[in-house]
Amino acid sequence: MSRRKIIAGNWKMNKTPQQARELIRTLLPLVETDEADVVFCVPFVDIPAAVEEVSGTNVQIGAQNMYFEDAGAFTGEISPEMLWELGVEYVIIGHSERRQYFHETDEDINKKLLMAFEYDLIPIVCVGETLEQREAGETLSWIRSQIEGAFEEVPEDLARDTVIAYEPIWAIGTGKTATSEQAEEVCGYIRQVIGELYGPETADVIRIQYGGSVNAGNAAELFSMPDIDGGLVGGASLKEDFGKIVNYK
Ligand code: PGA
Repeated sequence: MSRRKIIAGNWKMNKTPQQARELIRTLLPLVETDEADVVFCVPFVDIPAAVEEVSGTNVQIGAQNMYFEDAGAFTGEISPEMLWELGVEYVIIGHSERRQYFHETDEDINKKLLMAFEYDLIPIVCVGETLEQREAGETLSWIRSQIEGAFEEVPEDLARDTVIAYEPIWAIGTGKTATSEQAEEVCGYIRQVIGELYGPETADVIRIQYGGSVNAGNAAELFSMPDIDGGLVGGASLKEDFGKIVNYK
């Protein structure tokens, strides 16, 4: 089975709508490819401008979060329907920054995952361990619990369309990339857990990204590992280097 690679930029809290337009215009010619799905996950307020700029190109737009209710008294939140109406195709769910600073739990992430599907948004679900957990030998059991929590009651036909991003917290924004062997070990393990939950066919088709200090110099090695189907890229997605990451071959 050859899975189509997916390379997504996570812009985090960077770029105003006008700056987003400028960056997208710079990046578009550099990220042209037939070989991978390319996604820009932009701040909420940049979405209308971003969707307009990428129209007719190979790039799709993602959000970085959403709430798990349709509508109602949830001041400050954004619903999946709002994203859907703007033409958003992907949504990052459970990024470690949201888990850490905004106290999102596996239960919240599970609710968001189920809700994303209701509005045809493809979830990019993030999992990853801290340095302390890695050093204590708890990485795999932690990742298993995050995957089992996120996918609770998610039916097989939806699970297979989900994208999982393995992002070791110690590698995010630190310049400290996991080695390709470390990244492959955990991505392979995630595939094994998905296989236990849904069977070998789903494990074979589900796409698993690596994220954490991916750059133009390390993308080729990481993305050529058997269980790594692309990347979720933070810092380097705001630079022309993102073109080199997308066209890593
Ligand atoms: P980074 O961020 O590439 O800047 O390490 C990755 C992420 O948080 O998704």
